Amino acid sequence: MLPWGFGMSDLIPQILVFDSLPSTNLEAARRAIEGAVEGLCIVAREQTAGRGRLQRQWLSPKDAGLYFSLVLRPPFEQNSWPLLTLMAGVAVADALRESCALETDIKWPNDVLANEKKVCGILAETVETSLGRAVVLGIGINLTQQSFPEELKLEATSVEIETGHRPEVGVILDALLIPFVRHYEILKQPGGPEKIIREWSARSTYGDGKLVRVDESNAIIVGTTRGLERDGALRVETDTGEIKVVRAGDVTSVRPDRKL
Ligand code: BTN
Repeated sequence: MLPWGFGMSDLIPQILVFDSLPSTNLEAARRAIEGAVEGLCIVAREQTAGRGRLQRQWLSPKDAGLYFSLVLRPPFEQNSWPLLTLMAGVAVADALRESCALETDIKWPNDVLANEKKVCGILAETVETSLGRAVVLGIGINLTQQSFPEELKLEATSVEIETGHRPEVGVILDALLIPFVRHYEILKQPGGPEKIIREWSARSTYGDGKLVRVDESNAIIVGTTRGLERDGALRVETDTGEIKVVRAGDVTSVRPDRKL
């Protein structure tokens, strides 16, 4: 564990930095189960078993990215919890713009893209703890990778590839936690979900009017996005005019001229 000293706030009482962990999400979940307070932040310089969505792996070479997880104990109803990941995407987009001058897009629900390639992934997991159900919110940002394995080359990028500069991991974490805490406070207030959806929609080209293909576990939907539901689900209008509401699935942008 390293003694990094990031600026903290009321929501982020403690940041623990490890040289190496299997996964910051696993470590945060373990501590949440033991009763860790809301806002505990676990950072690792590398992850040996970084986890992505849909049981995928998240490559986490040493000092090449920001890999961290927060323990959250949201005080609002659980059907609004998906908004936490949308909110995290907003905070990442703001941090990359403020600290690296990198403009990004957010692919529903929460992949942050630079030039249509993924620069950040977000994984929220729920965990049962002695203090009630909690959320472990993990964020991985590719910072300094110059290249990616063959299978990721077409879809992944890093801040350094996009900007030509090597970002400081601590600067990015600080720049991210500030808007994160601000948006979390907003989300807790009446009208918060609508505000977070507006913030997300302002930073994403995927929320409205985008032709997409959605791979759900047992179906494929093709259609045009038509905004988000109050809980963050994506509305997609098919070519028969039917509105499908998507709560989980892999979204890809489809070029209008491409045959599916
Ligand atoms: C995705 O599939 O897009 C989500 C990737 C999430 C990766 C981060 S890195 C920090 C935290 N620890 C993990 O094991 N996963 C998340």
